Amino acid sequence: MPASTAVTVDIHLDERDLRAALERDVRSGLSSSPKRIPPTWFYDEEGSRLFEEITALPEYYPTRAERALLERHAHEVADAARADTLVELGAGSCDKTRLLLDAVEQAGTLSSYVPFDVSAEFLRDAAGSIADQYPQVQVHAVVGDFLVHLDRIPTAGRRLVAFLGGTIGNLAPAQRKRFLDALRSTMAHTDALLLGTDLVKDRGRIIAAYDDAAGVTARFNRNVLNVMNQALGATFDPDRFEHVVRWDERNQWIEMRLRATEPLTVAIQQLAMSVEFESGEELRTEISAKFTPAGIAAELGAAGFAVDRQWGADEGEFLLTLARPLG
Ligand code: SAH
Ligand code: TRP
Repeated sequence: MPASTAVTVDIHLDERDLRAALERDVRSGLSSSPKRIPPTWFYDEEGSRLFEEITALPEYYPTRAERALLERHAHEVADAARADTLVELGAGSCDKTRLLLDAVEQAGTLSSYVPFDVSAEFLRDAAGSIADQYPQVQVHAVVGDFLVHLDRIPTAGRRLVAFLGGTIGNLAPAQRKRFLDALRSTMAHTDALLLGTDLVKDRGRIIAAYDDAAGVTARFNRNVLNVMNQALGATFDPDRFEHVVRWDERNQWIEMRLRATEPLTVAIQQLAMSVEFESGEELRTEISAKFTPAGIAAELGAAGFAVDRQWGADEGEFLLTLARPLG
């Protein structure tokens, strides 16, 4: 049972689609050199839960920094956007969203909330608690992949599209460009985009945020091995992989990897495939790019958006950018 009857959930990625996409990514990613797996697959229920744990870690500053910016500026965002519909991409727990919902509600314009995420069960629960807390708001959750299903998001009304958490930094530059172009093409001139991005800063602080002392991020990183074990009958032993974090200075991104501690042969039974790891060989799992305010404005400009305002550019911790489709 959904937590509330006021939530509708549209599924664009059913179990079969999801599995087909996972099979494709594992087949090609594990047979390429270097080996890789896209970050979409971190977020089964356990992965979504572990990410929530990450957001509370002392080292993981982005969530707190973004929340502080929303506490200070959500009203300005709401006043500028005058939206009746809040769309949220990669909504996760929908937690910081409450600050935006409150502000849009106080601006007197809010009628619906559309959280979009690939993690179906987690989204259903999070959307349910929003519906319970905001009974006057229609909650219309959409399960899908934002790299594929942006065109399935309802376009009715005047929309504020929020993409928070720095998740855009998890896309490689070419993928980011395709994503922003596709997003722009779904947006009307009266819509607005609120984008949260992490900023370039002292590299020690950035690295610590992805390599916490309690080892939660390491568990999160290794969870992708459990996802393959459960979904595809793979035989990864997570204890034989080390969590590796590197700062790539040239690309200005964090790179996460899983390093085999010894030579390993892993069977992926349901793909009738076997994968060899040399001792010390690394599987690339995730990048998290860090930005500058001018860099974000330039990328948005190239995709047909004009920056309205940016908050946080001075403090240098995290950045919120409000943009609109160019005329
Ligand atoms: N917005 C939340 C969660 C960020 S974590 C916050 O700021 O705390 C990233 C979220 O994006 C997760 O909930 C994950 O399930 C979702 N996600 C990752 N890749 C996705 C994809 N390709 N399509 C849709 N959602 C995705
Ligand atoms: N969007 C988050 C970020 O880039 C996702 C994230 C945080 C993450 N910690 C992680 C992804 C650890 C993989 C591993 O900050």
